[in-house]
Order: sequence, then structure tokens, then C-alpha cells
Amino acid sequence: MKKTLPFLLCLFFSLAAFGQAAADGIALIPQPVSVEKEAGSFTLPAKSVVLYGGDQPEIAGIASMLCSHLSTATGYSVSPKAGGSGSGGTIQLLLLPQEDKLLGQEGYRLAVGKKRVTISANRPAGLFYGVQTLRQLFPPAIESKDKVLQRSWTIPAVRITDYPRFAWRGLMFDVVRHFFTKEQVKQFIDEMVKYKYNLLHLHLTDDEGWRLEIKALPRLTEVGAWNVKKVGRFGYFSPPAPDEPRNYGGFFTHQDIRELVQYARERYVDILPEIETPGHSLAAIASYPELSCTPGAEKYRVRSGEEIMVWPESGHFYGLVDNTLCPANDKVYPFLDKVFTEVAQLFPFPYIHMGGDETARNFWETSPAIRELMQKEKLKDLNEVQSYFVKRVEKIIESKGKKLIGWDEILEGGLAPNAAVMSWRGVKGGIEAARMGHEVVMSPTTYVYLDYMQSDSAIEPPVYATLRLKKSYEFDPVPEGVDPKWIKGGQANLWTEQVYNMRHLQYMVWPRAFAVAECVWSPKESRNWGDFVRRVEKHFERNDAARIKYAPSLYDPTIRASRDASGQLLVDMENEVDGLTLHYSFDYSFPDPFYPEYTASIPVPKDASVMRIISCRNGKPIGRMITIPVTELQKRADRGKK
Ligand code: ACM
Repeated sequence: MKKTLPFLLCLFFSLAAFGQAAADGIALIPQPVSVEKEAGSFTLPAKSVVLYGGDQPEIAGIASMLCSHLSTATGYSVSPKAGGSGSGGTIQLLLLPQEDKLLGQEGYRLAVGKKRVTISANRPAGLFYGVQTLRQLFPPAIESKDKVLQRSWTIPAVRITDYPRFAWRGLMFDVVRHFFTKEQVKQFIDEMVKYKYNLLHLHLTDDEGWRLEIKALPRLTEVGAWNVKKVGRFGYFSPPAPDEPRNYGGFFTHQDIRELVQYARERYVDILPEIETPGHSLAAIASYPELSCTPGAEKYRVRSGEEIMVWPESGHFYGLVDNTLCPANDKVYPFLDKVFTEVAQLFPFPYIHMGGDETARNFWETSPAIRELMQKEKLKDLNEVQSYFVKRVEKIIESKGKKLIGWDEILEGGLAPNAAVMSWRGVKGGIEAARMGHEVVMSPTTYVYLDYMQSDSAIEPPVYATLRLKKSYEFDPVPEGVDPKWIKGGQANLWTEQVYNMRHLQYMVWPRAFAVAECVWSPKESRNWGDFVRRVEKHFERNDAARIKYAPSLYDPTIRASRDASGQLLVDMENEVDGLTLHYSFDYSFPDPFYPEYTASIPVPKDASVMRIISCRNGKPIGRMITIPVTELQKRADRGKK
């Protein structure tokens, strides 16, 4: 008893604090550095003023955004007012007259008193993030785009001090595999900044399209931006017939990009442009076949989702067509010079991403031009050929006053002198680059690939890998033994092969991007999976109010199958969220909380064809009905046995 009493007391107080936070409705993502609950609450008056200090127009912009957030759902009159450093106003946005070292460039303090809310920061960015936190203190209905009839809009009194762990908090958006318009990119920015992301990596070119106007190279968008519209499972489509119209796609004009850069900047987001080289370049080759070293490239067309690369179970992947810019082709470098000249003029961000991943080299292996280049430049293998290419690209990018960043394959054959590395094949490449004194952004498939399935393949739209929410929440951009000064931050990537529209995009992004936001903003010590799940569920309500889709996959079990010594097929399941029960049937009927509950390995009845599963909480269904064929269970049990 002596030992258990302090433990029980501790548990009681932490549960009490947990319950208190829940009762107050405080559910912030990402979790701030410090939240001190105070007595009382603040109720937004029907006529409110957001008073902002300083005369910078950007602070006026932040104040107007806040007014618009608060007035839409409430129907109240919430208006901005320039107030120097004077007092008054219902909500105050103040730039601190003296630097508060703790807060840095993006931190803020938020004080909610009974009569007034004050947000203070060293820089406008900090005020902007304070505003995002303030939004989250209001009930979910504040996110509604329509007026909501609600008696009062009350938030708990609280003192928050907050600043980010990393300066690079990125999301990558692939606007190639499926094209998303300027307005949709703006919507994406609006959604990401609520969670304090500050970097939008736009993947602008690939085999399926070239999405950026390059005035000096008009065919890139006349030809390269268009393919055949296909629907179904990307990568498995039939090859387009010659007469099928190539009318799916689109691109951003210079004017579109200027507008997007400005829109992002007003929300403290930088845009990192990616021009994919030397692989994944079929759209460029289809537009300018002379950039290839492979005879017959003039017959190539922009890919429409048919198979063009092969990934054998073992051995190296290879291309069915040569989708690379040829490093041995002298026309390639002036081409890239023209491209990067315009990219550098359009995007103020100091880095340009040159891709560098997944270069199929089987055509290089047999190319006389590549062989000649290797002899001339004394390159001993194709890694060194790629490295030769990357180093030349770095010189071009640097000649435009920019820095090169690329996927971790750019390490192969020797890293270019000043290159930054985006580590995606796990964290290994990032560790290697950091040890060599290069900047690193961590973006490993294992934690942050938002295109992967979110739960069991029996229910998710099919993709070749799975990444569950809980795993994303374990992301740490700084692996052990690495000097953190080289790690700029972390980034989640949304590839869109299987993402056809904004609704599904949202489904893939949320809630995993909640998890990544917390991993790149909040102190590592504050991570708490159970409390995170509580907050995620509150943010589901916010998304519902904002009409933003999200995946309920955290309620789906992971389903495993095995056989016992007698060959009997058995099913086991695992939840990632505590407090759920799993109920099942084998008779085609729809299980509910009154059906048998999974507690131990379930033997599959001899003649059953399907198993159905539902997850429940407090005696009510909460998850989705999963139907899994017994043939699939057999496959899982017997995988790797033959
Ligand atoms: C990548 O996912 N191929 C960078």
C-alpha cells in the first residue's frame, strides 16, 4: 500500500487534469509548449474589435483574417482597428517592443482573460500562429462557413506560451499525378496553416505532367501538361490508344504562381518548387524528345497511369520507356538553365528541389553517349553519372542565387558540395548527409507518407503500403546520434497517383497531418498518444463543421491471419485506440455490439466465405464495417510459406 498510494494519487491527479482539460474543451493541435488554465472564461461580445499594434500592413492582414474567422459562424460584428500600442479592444494583437528571446521568430503568448484576449509576439508570424491557437479554443462550430445559431461563444481563460521545435514544417503536394487548380492549392494552404505548417512543397513535374509555364519552353505545357483521363487503379491502366483525347491536366501560369506565392506568404507559408530530374521526366521528354539519349524517344507520350516502371520483388527497378533527362546530352543543361531561370524568378524561397529520386538507369546501361561521358569524365559507375548530373544541376541552380535540395538518392556517387538532402527512404540518407555537414529535411516513408493506406487493405482504397496514425505520431526528425543543427525539420508527403479530388485528398491528409504537425512543432517530451487521440476526435468535430473530410481509419483494427499446428485458419486483430471492442460475423450478416466479441484468436469456420468486423465504443458502433474474404485471410496466413 505504501508504494501504491503515491502512484494512485499521481494517477488521480493526472486523470483529474486530463478530465479538466477535456471538460474545458481545450484540445489544441499541435500541443503548445505551455498551457496554464486560469479561473473563468471569456465570452465573445456580439460587437468586438480586434485591435492591432504596429503599423505594418501585414498585421492588419492578420487582424482581418481573425475578424473574418470569428464573424462568419457567429454572425457577430468583429472588426479590425489599428491601435498603435494603446489599450482597448476585445482582442489585441501586439508586437512586443522588446525581443522575447524564448519566442524566437514564430512563437507567441496568448492570454485569455475574462474581458480580453491578448496575443503578443516578436514577429507577425508569431501573431499569426497565436491566432490559429485562439481559433482552436472556440467550439468546433466556429469553423462553420455558415452562420450558426448558438447562444454564446465562450472559451476558457488560459495562458499559453508557444514556439516551434523546427523551422521547416512541411507538406508536399503532388499536383502532377492529378492536377489540382490554383484555388484548390489555396484551400490546401488554408487547411495546413491551421496546424502551423509553414512550408508547401509543390511537386510540379513528373512523368504524368509538367505543371509550370516556362515561357522559354512553351511545349512543356502545350504538350507536357496533358494526358488521357483515366479512372480506377493508377499504375494499372491500359495504355492509351492513339486516338484517345489528351485533354486531362493543366498547369500554372506565371501569374498563377505569383498569386499563390503571395497568398502563401500572407499566411506565413513558403513554397518550395520541385522540378523532377533526371528521372520521372517523361512529360519533359514527350515535349522535347531531343533531351533523351534513347533512339525513338519522339514516340513517347505523357504517361496516363499505364505501367512504365517495373519494381521486381528483388533486384533493381527498371523503366519500360526511358523517362530520364540524359546526363550525357549537351542539350539537357541549357534546357535546365532556362527552366531554373524562370523558377528562380517566380519562387522567392531560397531552395529549389531538383528531385533526383528513382532514376531508372537501364537505358543508360546500354547508351553509347553515357559510355562516352563515363570515359571522358572518368566516372566509374552509374551512381557517379547521376552524381555528375546533380553537381552540374547544382551549379545551374546556384547561378540563379538558389540552393539545391534533392531526394536522398543524390547522395549516391557523391553528394554535390552544398546540397541539402530530403531523406525519404527512411532516415539513413538524412543521417549520412548530416554527418557530412549537409542540411537535412526528414521525410521518411516509415512515418510521413500520406499516400499510404491508413488501416487494413480490406477497407482502404488500395495503395502498396500502409502507414497508421499511431506510427505517424512517433515521427522524430532528429534520429539518435545526429547533431540537430543539421536537421532543418520534417515534412509529410502527399503523392496523388490515387488521389483524384479534393475530398479524397483531405481524407488522406487528416488526421495523419495532425500527428506530423505535432511532431514538428511541439516539444518531444509533451507527446502523449492517449491525449492526442482525445484531441484528434475534437478536431474531427472541427473538420465536420468546416466540411473537411478526414479518415476514420484509427477505429479500424489491423487484421492478421495465421494457422495453428493442425492447419486451422485463425484471425487476430489489434486496435490502435484504447477502449474499443471488436465484434464479428462469418455468416454475411452485419455485426453490431451484441455479436461475439474478439478476445483471443478466432478460428475461421470451415465453410465461411467472408468475415465482417465492426469496432465499437461504449456499446455503439464507431468504426466502419469491414468485410474481408476468407480467401484473403488464407493468403495472409500462407504468405511467405510457399
Ligand atoms: C519519392 O517518394 N519517390 C521521393
